[in-house]
Amino acid sequence: MREVSVTFRTSSPKETIQLGQALGKCLQEGDVVALVGDLGSGKTWFVKGLALGLGVGPDQVVTSPSFSLMNEYEGRCTLFHIDAYRLEAVSDFLDAGLDDYLHGHGVAVMEWADRWPEVLPERHWKVRIAILDEHSREITLFAGHPDAIKVLKYQLNK
Ligand SMILES: Nc1ncnc2c1ncn2[C@@H]1O[C@H](COP(=O)(O)OP(=O)(O)OP(=O)(O)O)[C@@H](O)[C@H]1O
Ligand SMILES: [Mg+2]
Repeated sequence: MREVSVTFRTSSPKETIQLGQALGKCLQEGDVVALVGDLGSGKTWFVKGLALGLGVGPDQVVTSPSFSLMNEYEGRCTLFHIDAYRLEAVSDFLDAGLDDYLHGHGVAVMEWADRWPEVLPERHWKVRIAILDEHSREITLFAGHPDAIKVLKYQLNK
C-alpha cells in the first residue's frame, strides 16, 4: 500500500532545512506545498531548505514574506513563497492575486495554508509542523502525488 504521510522529528533549524531540502528535490513545476504550524514553529526555516532543494542559490536569503505577501526565487523552476498570516479574509488573498501562484507555473509554498483550504488545488503537498520543545519539531509530510513518499525517502537517504 502507498504511504500517504511520513513523520520526522528535527532537533535544530539545520535539520529542518535538511528535510525541506529533501522535499524540494522532489518538487516539480506546478507543485503546491501547504505549510501548517503555529507561530514560530519553523515554517520559514523549512522553506529555506525547500529553496535549496529547488536549486535556489545558497546566497539567496529566504525570509518570511509577511509584509510583501509573496517572495519569488529562481531555481530550477521559480519558487513562489506566500505568507497568508497578515491577510484577514480570503477576499484579501484573492484581491492580491495570490491564487494565481497556486495555479500557475513554478512551485508555490504557502505559510498558514490552513486558513483558507478552499484556495488550494486538490493535489498538493501538506507539511504540518508541531513544536515539541524549544529545539524539537515534529514534521509530518503528506504526499502530493502517488509514490511521493518513496521518492522523498530516497532523497533523504542519498
Ligand atoms: N527544530 C527546529 N526547526 C525549525 N526551527 C526551530 C527548531 N528549533 C528551534 N527553532 C526556532 O524556531 C523558530 C522558527 O522560526 P520560523 O520563522 O521558521 O517560524 P515560522 O513558523 O515561519 O513562524 P511565523 O508563523 O512567524 O511565520 C526560529 O527561531 C528557530 O531558530
Ligand atoms: Mg514564517
